[in-house]
Amino acid sequence: MSTAISPTAYNYKVVRQFAIMTVVWGILGMGLGVFIASQLVWPELNFGLPWTTFGRLRPLHTNLVIFAFGGCALFATSYYVVQRTCQTRLISDGLAAFTFWGWQAVILGAIVTLPLGYTTTKEYAELEWPIAILLAIVWVTYAVVFFGTIVKRKTKHIYVGNWFYGAFILVTAMLHIVNHASLPVSLFKSYSAYAGATDAMIQWWYGHNAVGFFLTTGFLGMMYYFVPKQAERPIYSYRLSIVHFWALITLYIWAGPHHLHYTALPDWAQSLGMAMSIILLAPSWGGMINGMMTLSGAWHKLRTDPILRFLVVSLAFYGMSTFEGPMMAIKTVNSLSHYTDWTIGHVHAGALGWVAMISIGALYHMIPKLFGRAQMHSVGLINTHFWLATIGTVLYIASMWVNGITQGLMWRAINDDGTLTYSFVEALQASHPGFIVRALGGAFFATGMLFMAYNVWRTVRASDPAQAEAAAKIAVVGAH
Ligand code: HEM
Ligand code: HEM
Repeated sequence: MSTAISPTAYNYKVVRQFAIMTVVWGILGMGLGVFIASQLVWPELNFGLPWTTFGRLRPLHTNLVIFAFGGCALFATSYYVVQRTCQTRLISDGLAAFTFWGWQAVILGAIVTLPLGYTTTKEYAELEWPIAILLAIVWVTYAVVFFGTIVKRKTKHIYVGNWFYGAFILVTAMLHIVNHASLPVSLFKSYSAYAGATDAMIQWWYGHNAVGFFLTTGFLGMMYYFVPKQAERPIYSYRLSIVHFWALITLYIWAGPHHLHYTALPDWAQSLGMAMSIILLAPSWGGMINGMMTLSGAWHKLRTDPILRFLVVSLAFYGMSTFEGPMMAIKTVNSLSHYTDWTIGHVHAGALGWVAMISIGALYHMIPKLFGRAQMHSVGLINTHFWLATIGTVLYIASMWVNGITQGLMWRAINDDGTLTYSFVEALQASHPGFIVRALGGAFFATGMLFMAYNVWRTVRASDPAQAEAAAKIAVVGAH
């Protein structure tokens, strides 16, 4: 492997900006998560003000964690990975900077409008039309930068991680644009272009694929780069990764109706969604196994490397949530789980265990490299973060399983004369201990993010501009 350095350099500036903002939005989004979790324990925390109520802050939480935290992590890592695996600089610094500032503007738009009550009411697509249009423009620019960089690559083949990032970018654009088709009636109010069951189907085609492509496919792109890198082993099977890619993207798109079981949606569509969800287990686990097996011969590294532990445990949670999901998609199981905290537990097994943990692992790998440092300021603090995150996730999901099954069983219990055995309030009272444990688990997780912020700050502070500049130089030949 040559060590020759070419005069050109990667655009690390935009990667650094997105990486830092991932930590910032992570703290805010998860902090808000802890706050709304606390509102469910102590309703007084709604403060009797419209903009601080659970109903308005909940969508702000989901927007901040998915689009601000998750989105910035995806931008940062995809720009890093595409440059390094294509051994070339992003096609345009200006367009890349536009995606950074444009994306932050979208997030600020959410922070202002959601608490004020401006919403389309469609879950994960709440942002009203002016912000949605800005989001679409930023996203199309992102696609131009990403695919443009692939076109001018110096390497022969396109590394599989880029296939996953590419699918995530294309499909997210399609979902967002189709689901947001609406008729504006004022600056901050619009009505969906679709009606009735069609509207519901399109919304959950969007919603499910937001999970499938935003919260899964993009992060699998991350997995395919950072797991082999951190383990210092090639990916277990390149062939499996190709099968994984095509199977995942062809199957995911059909599974949306499992969000609409027992609704006005035609029965055949519900059954199709159920069947496709069960089949989805295969590619999901194929991908997980490919990631896990990459550690063959390197398992001992888990003892000393907390970054690798973040990455591997994230894969374990990915495997767990993609086993649970297909089970919940079975109509009879869904009749118990739907509307209960079981769904919330499933969501956070994916969100905390998979999405957040893999992002955190990738950031710890990437940040020293972006700033020309050998490693993070403190490995001990990464380890502390790892345990806080793992214990926090386990507390969160275990309490939600208990709550979910309790709620489902209490709601369906009937007396001999056909009346309900329990009132809704009794089920709510039974859920109270679980709400406390969830808030505690969330607090563990969010505290871990504070440790991360301190560690990142110390790492960045120790770097000087010359080191950072040297880090961005493109090596002409060699591993990415
Ligand atoms: C094979 C993979 C998966 C399948 C088949 C699946 C299936 C399901 C099912 C059946 C529901 C409940 C729908 C309802 O009763 O309303 C659900 C909800 C959800 N899942 Fe999954 N899941 C999978 C993986 C994941 C992963 C990896 C994540 C996160 C990263 C995730 C995030 C969510 C979210 C956010 C919801 C809640 C949607 C809402 O009602 O707002 N899922 N999933
Ligand atoms: C400290 C960490 C977190 C805490 C304490 C937390 C707490 C909460 C709470 C209390 C809810 C509302 C549940 C309900 O309506 O009963 C919620 C919903 C949600 N959160 Fe989080 N959250 C955290 C992190 C995250 C992360 C990192 C993500 C995504 C990457 C995420 C994604 C979601 C989603 C998608 C929903 C909506 C679920 C649904 O509608 O089914 N959360 N969260």
